Amino acid sequence: MAAKKPIFNLNQFLATRTESVNRALDKFLPSEKTKPATIHKAMRYSLFAGGKRMRPAVLLAAAAACGGREADAMPLACAVECIHTYSLIHDDLPAMDNDDFRRGKPTNHKVFGEGIAVLAGDALLTQAFEIAAQAKGWPRYSHRDLILEIAKASGSLQLVAGQVADLEGEGKKLSVAELRYIHERKTSALLCCSVRLGGMSANCTPAQLAALTDFGYHVGLAFQVIDDILDVTQTSEQLGKTAGKDVAVQKATYPSIVGLEKSRKIAAQLTAKAFAALDIFKGKAVALEALAEFLLKREK
Ligand code: IPE
Ligand code: IPE
Ligand code: MG
Ligand code: MG
Ligand code: MG
Repeated sequence: MAAKKPIFNLNQFLATRTESVNRALDKFLPSEKTKPATIHKAMRYSLFAGGKRMRPAVLLAAAAACGGREADAMPLACAVECIHTYSLIHDDLPAMDNDDFRRGKPTNHKVFGEGIAVLAGDALLTQAFEIAAQAKGWPRYSHRDLILEIAKASGSLQLVAGQVADLEGEGKKLSVAELRYIHERKTSALLCCSVRLGGMSANCTPAQLAALTDFGYHVGLAFQVIDDILDVTQTSEQLGKTAGKDVAVQKATYPSIVGLEKSRKIAAQLTAKAFAALDIFKGKAVALEALAEFLLKREK
């Protein structure tokens, strides 16, 4: 008889992990009352506005696949969410994508003004490193390796590079290769870094780290292709952010370059590649598998 596939409850995994990440973030961040109160209110406003917490989720799932403990992974999970939230606050600024809604609420600069929004982003980026510094190092991955991992994914060769190319690509007809360059950096780099950090927090083997890198890279690319598709197919209410913006400002996206149907195919192919990377875990990466499938089928 064929072995039964273990039943994995992703909804429960996401609900419990979101709760523990939120609790940890609340502890790591200065309270709203801490002086200067405005900045701490602004940081917390965007951080606790209700994001999907996908970067912490893949990080914790990768740690689990490698037999790690959630407590060891948690500071890193909080750090990547702080970086992600900072990138969203800045992404929404009038000087960048000029968006009024995020996570179902008015954007940070709409509530606190542009100056404070810039500073809230700066402070969350810095906070990420303060939190990551509290993670413990391992025989295979020193404390320095963990910090470098986050710095590299976020810096001017990766996340920031992608955002630069994204801005410079507005109104231009880019090739698929140029669009791929943007997606690798603005989105896949931090997702891949999150998956890798999960493995590193469990002192994973080099072979496991290579598999997680492969998985994270492809899931990260698929994530942005889907984001581009949802911008076309969903309503602002469903997304919690303004839909249809990419076409309006002539952003280079997969739907605009290859069309919706081909974009869906590409997202599915990228997800299949991510799945294949998990073979070496021999069924122990159930949470990562479920997340990859969820991210492909997501509606927001
Ligand atoms: C939006 O990310 C920005 C991209 C990189 C596409 P998410 O879709 O993960 O946003 P939240 O965290 O759920 O708000
Ligand atoms: C955002 O990409 C990527 C980063 C914030 C690094 P998008 O501009 O497509 O994200 P949304 O659609 O505003 O969430
Ligand atoms: Mg953008
Ligand atoms: Mg945007
Ligand atoms: Mg988008």
